[in-house]
Amino acid sequence: DWKMDSFVETSVKALREKIGSGKVLCALSGGVDSSVAAAMLSKAVGKQLTCVFVDHGLLRKNEMEEVCEVFGPNGQFELNFVCVNARQRFYDKLAGVEEPEKKRKIIGEEFIRVFEEEAKKIGAVDFLAQGTIYPDVVESGLGGESTVIKSHHNVGGLPDYVDFKEIVEPLRDLFKDETRQAGRELGLPEYLVSRQPFPGPGLAIRIIGAVTPEKVKMVQEADAIWREEIAKAGLDKSISQYYAALTNMRSVGVMGDERTYDYAVALRAVTTTDFMTAEAAEIPWSVLQTVTSRIVNEVKHINRVLYDCTGKPPATIEFE
Ligand code: XMP
Repeated sequence: DWKMDSFVETSVKALREKIGSGKVLCALSGGVDSSVAAAMLSKAVGKQLTCVFVDHGLLRKNEMEEVCEVFGPNGQFELNFVCVNARQRFYDKLAGVEEPEKKRKIIGEEFIRVFEEEAKKIGAVDFLAQGTIYPDVVESGLGGESTVIKSHHNVGGLPDYVDFKEIVEPLRDLFKDETRQAGRELGLPEYLVSRQPFPGPGLAIRIIGAVTPEKVKMVQEADAIWREEIAKAGLDKSISQYYAALTNMRSVGVMGDERTYDYAVALRAVTTTDFMTAEAAEIPWSVLQTVTSRIVNEVKHINRVLYDCTGKPPATIEFE
């Protein structure tokens, strides 16, 4: 695509001019926007860029490894990459907390604290990079619906806890599909650029009630199976968002000759254009059967699989 080629080229040139010999700090979440921003900045200023990736222990299965593979020292991008294992810190802070908004708040605050500590180690920088894209600019202006209903820890004002002079937002003019295309031009792998949305608080809001490391593991495994089978069935391109959530409901089941009293997992899949409203996706029964049998057989302590048929409204896309 000549247009995107020229967008990437023009942006890289403009970033080089703007940044000069300055230092840039970027919080990398592993999502599409921050990944594309990081790739573009790496192309523009190389080692003047430092990316900090915080593993809060609430990521999907293999997500940390994937991000490290792309942006770490063995990857193709020239930059300084810091991967922080902060899992235990988040688990400690979340222990016993059941209320959704409280969970979000704790994660948002702890994330800032971890990032702040890392930023201090790096010292003063000239620029703080953000993966803001055009719809974010519009949404924050109008006060987007989901920002009102639930607090989004990754949409907000300027962080005042990092020592920097100026914000740099290389994707501010791009729509989502243009951002993905720019990512492809920059050589990011397809699984990264075509990723579905993943909330900042991660799996914490897909575990109803209190988070434990054991529950994280359960939901990671169930979610990986669900995503794998959706892709295998060729449904991934037609569904906007799909994931597994761990309910806090336990129920009686039977496995072999044994009575079980284990958790129920809820599968979610929705189609939407703007994420403000959504419909539950129609999944072929055979796919649901395969996924159900795989989950109850492969994931310990799950003995029931439910499919969420609810649209938004009245439900939201996430469970919390
Ligand atoms: P809801 O659950 O409000 O979700 O229908 C709408 C869309 O927003 C995503 N979402 C978030 N994204 N930080 C994010 O970056 C968050 O805290 C957050 N909460 C929800 C959700 O995955 C869906 O795509």
